[in-house]
Amino acid sequence: MSTLIYNINTLVHTEQSPKSRYLGKEMANLVCVNDAFLYIVDGKISDFGKSNPELIKSIKEKDPSLIMHDAENGHVFPSWVDAHTHIVFAGNRELEFENRIKGLSYEEIALRGGGILNSAKALKDSSEDDLVASASRRLNEMKSLGTGAVEIKSGYGLSVESELKMLRVIKRLKKESPLIIKATFLGAHAIPEEFKGRKKDYLQLLIKEVMPVIQQEGLAEFCDIFCEKNYFSSDDTLELMEAAKNYGMTAKVHAEQLSHSGGIAAGIKSGAISVDHLEFASDEDILELRNSETMPVLLPGAQLFLGLQNPPARKMIDSGCSVALSTDFNPGSCPSGNMNQMVSLACILYKMTPAEVIIAATSNSAYAMELENVVGSICRGKIANLFITPEISSYAFLPYSFGSNLVKKVFLKGVMQ
Ligand code: NIG
Ligand code: FE
Repeated sequence: MSTLIYNINTLVHTEQSPKSRYLGKEMANLVCVNDAFLYIVDGKISDFGKSNPELIKSIKEKDPSLIMHDAENGHVFPSWVDAHTHIVFAGNRELEFENRIKGLSYEEIALRGGGILNSAKALKDSSEDDLVASASRRLNEMKSLGTGAVEIKSGYGLSVESELKMLRVIKRLKKESPLIIKATFLGAHAIPEEFKGRKKDYLQLLIKEVMPVIQQEGLAEFCDIFCEKNYFSSDDTLELMEAAKNYGMTAKVHAEQLSHSGGIAAGIKSGAISVDHLEFASDEDILELRNSETMPVLLPGAQLFLGLQNPPARKMIDSGCSVALSTDFNPGSCPSGNMNQMVSLACILYKMTPAEVIIAATSNSAYAMELENVVGSICRGKIANLFITPEISSYAFLPYSFGSNLVKKVFLKGVMQ
């Protein structure tokens, strides 16, 4: 099947060959083609460029079943890549939201058995079918907002049975959803009640009882940990990630979110593909990141929702680091999967430019999912995941229009949704 999208005002974020990640100043270099066409064959981008009536005529002649699609002078963007979510969950936590408004902190709520443990209680009693249904609804909403690839974490199970249940739900979503999905094992998200004071025993349970099944059933590409005071330390991170590597999983780390806990350094040492959150990243961390292959993933939705300080985004980019953006969609710290809002927030809060946020939310977040050769830009050979806007004045109009949805049409694997 082939489709030709014509009458494109601007094709945003084009590449002649896939670039693995954009570092520092490179993030300002968003290459666009004005007055363009895009040719899709069998779900992949086959060609693109300046509108060319001769070329289009010859494609049409060679391919009589070609579908012609009028972009109506809109902008075409590569789909957003959301490299950090927790969208498999049961119930909601709006009561905690209200308690935080009234003065309790996120940490206080967690210490009283709320937070992640609260979501774990709700998930325990949910069936796989119900979890697939509710996560699918969230995925559909994300799709309509322009997201085409999503990383999904476990971590509300916190027992052998429930962690595996979550990962099997994600495996079903991979099969059923048109979005590209990767799974992350986050058993080390919190210490369950029954392991209070026995953190090391819990880690051993994850390593000995869960990881072998993950490998046997092919349940996760990545392994993550919440490296934070009252949760897991940087030593725990090194230990868990060493084991994860032996079971074929690449490391990711929830790092420096509520305090400086050494998650970035431990992540880099473990060869993590990404370290995420980073509100409390230090100058030394930035230096280490710059000299590593690890992608810093910033989550402005969670930061705003919890009222945390800004991560040093500008400093990172100005020092030559890469930066990626994602949502952290979860019931406790970011009940939103809207990447359009994340790019707006990164402009407003972090002083990242529109070009930088678009690259951070596409190519750089694709790198954080090990999908940099597959999605994240308009590039020949990549999967045709994209969205079309109405007629707008420039690509900057998208992050500028915070709170609006400018995603008019969505194509995934070349098929209009
Ligand atoms: O990424 N920080 C740890 N985990 C999640 C929040 C989980 C929750 O509150 O349910 C996060 O913010
Ligand atoms: Fe998270």
